[in-house]
Amino acid sequence: MKKLRKGYLAALAILGSCGALMSTAIADSPFTDAKEAVEYRKDALSLMHANFAVMGDMVKGDIEYDPDIFQQRANDFAKLAGIPWAGFTVEGAMPGEDTDALPAIWDNWDDFQERANDLQTGADKLLAVSANRSLDSSGDALKDVARTCKGCHDDYRD
Ligand code: HEC
Repeated sequence: MKKLRKGYLAALAILGSCGALMSTAIADSPFTDAKEAVEYRKDALSLMHANFAVMGDMVKGDIEYDPDIFQQRANDFAKLAGIPWAGFTVEGAMPGEDTDALPAIWDNWDDFQERANDLQTGADKLLAVSANRSLDSSGDALKDVARTCKGCHDDYRD
């Protein structure tokens, strides 16, 4: 028993030193390594984008405006708008083959978070406006959100 416990402690110590070699987490990160964090955020961004794109196509007239579908997409989009950002809490998740995130994110962490918050605010507004079932006002709210996407991509995405 004593021996087992010793082995367990040794294993913990090894795990601990591995952790120290891995990337550092900025806040309380749910991830232990950068690869996992990068995959998570890219999946989350893609799903968020899938909902946004349907609404965008309706606003552009590429597909017919259906207020029920628009509201459903706006609802899912608002739920997803807060999800990707946890995937940026691992500071080692730097540009390379697998990610387009720029190091500027971690040099300007407060600004990055503020923009993520702006996205949530815009998404909530879009959802509220979509209930009016007006393509014009929904389109205006959607364009505001699109500017937030673009602003962040211009500064923080390769
Ligand atoms: C707070 C900053 C920020 C905002 C706001 C933002 N993005 Fe991004 N987005 C990023 C960064 C950074 C990446 C690069 C992520 C990576 O490659 O690790 C990215 C990548 C993406 C990707 C590619 C995901 C992949 O699979 O590689 C899509 C799609 C995307 N964003 C869509 C959007 C849409 C649509 C919006 C607005 C509704 C938006 N983003 C708003 C920062 C942002």
